[in-house]
This record gives sequence, C-alpha cells and structure tokens, in this order.
Amino acid sequence: MTTSHHQDRPAGETGPRHAGHVVGARPEPGFEITVDGRPLTAVPGQTIGAVLYAAGVRSWRTTRFDKRPRGLFCGIGVCFDCLITVNGEPSLRACQTEARPGDEVTTG
Ligand code: FES
Repeated sequence: MTTSHHQDRPAGETGPRHAGHVVGARPEPGFEITVDGRPLTAVPGQTIGAVLYAAGVRSWRTTRFDKRPRGLFCGIGVCFDCLITVNGEPSLRACQTEARPGDEVTTG
C-alpha cells in the first residue's frame, strides 16, 4: 500500500505526535532535497517550509489573479498560502510537510 507524503509515520510510532522527543536533542546529520532543481540541506524533522525559510526563500508561488507573492504566513497549517508540490503530489502545505531525503519539491 502506498501512503501519501504527509501521512507517513516512523516505524513503530503509534501514539499521538508530540515534540517531547526533541527536548535536549541535537540535530541528526542533514540531507539533501531539491527545490525546483536547487539542492538545499534539511535536517530530520524540519518542514519543507522551514528549509525554504532557512535558505532565505520567502515566497514560492503567486496568487492566481493578482500574481502576489505567497510563502509562509501562518506557519501552522491554516492559511494554505504555502502550497507546494512534493514528489509529484500537489497542494501540500510546506509548513506541515516534513522534508525527507531526496524529496523533489516544485513551486509555482
Ligand atoms: S503557512 Fe499557513 S498553511 Fe502553511
């Protein structure tokens, strides 16, 4: 069975998600994703929105009619301003989508 990008969970993880496992943690080694063919480094647990923000990218799409720039706005999954395509799966929220090694992100 194939699951979509945003539904994957680590093996053995069954309970509710929480951030307690990162208290006092050090980042694991980074890995590469590409954004419109540009290689960017991500760390485990980092969202694609955070990867873009850390790389200095503040907008990655435009509104349909006025062509106004959009990127992270709410950062919590409410506004849908941060939509991206990951590995061909469209309309994912960058602020809610965890980067995974080799992800191919397209914007626009
Ligand atoms: S920044 Fe608002 S949904 Fe992602």
